[in-house]
Amino acid sequence: MKLALGADHGGFVLKSSILGVLSDMGIEVEDFGCNSSESVDYPDFAEKVSRGVSEGRFERGILICGTGIGMSMAANKFPNVRAALCHNLYTARLSREHNDANILVMGERVIGSGLAKEMVRVWLETPFDGGRHARRVEKIRAFDHGFEKGCRQDC
Ligand code: RB5
Repeated sequence: MKLALGADHGGFVLKSSILGVLSDMGIEVEDFGCNSSESVDYPDFAEKVSRGVSEGRFERGILICGTGIGMSMAANKFPNVRAALCHNLYTARLSREHNDANILVMGERVIGSGLAKEMVRVWLETPFDGGRHARRVEKIRAFDHGFEKGCRQDC
């Protein structure tokens, strides 16, 4: 599996701490930065990761900022991206089983690194349940096309 990884200055420490888990799991990671506490703009990093997932160059992505909120808002603007802001093992697991999330978003200022590492493992190991959830995910996917046409009703 190829995974795109990105963070802003509020998330780069947590980004570094999950690299070991990804390597243990044999995941091929492309790290898009950032790599210091120097202030940067989270949409720039959300874009690199989300565009890669949206265009199919990466199966999955992980984005980290201070709260995870800005990264998730930005990531979900990209077609085919289902970015899930998760705070615990339950939301990480359900984001895969029910929502087929392809980007995991976390907040470094919200969760500890021990929990985050376990969330990454669970999120990567949990398959999509399909069934009734597939129909719902398809309805989300349909929004991409409607909104691209500038149509917000009856699409
Ligand atoms: C940066 O201070 C902070 O705003 C950012 O990391 C993130 O939390 C935005 O949602």
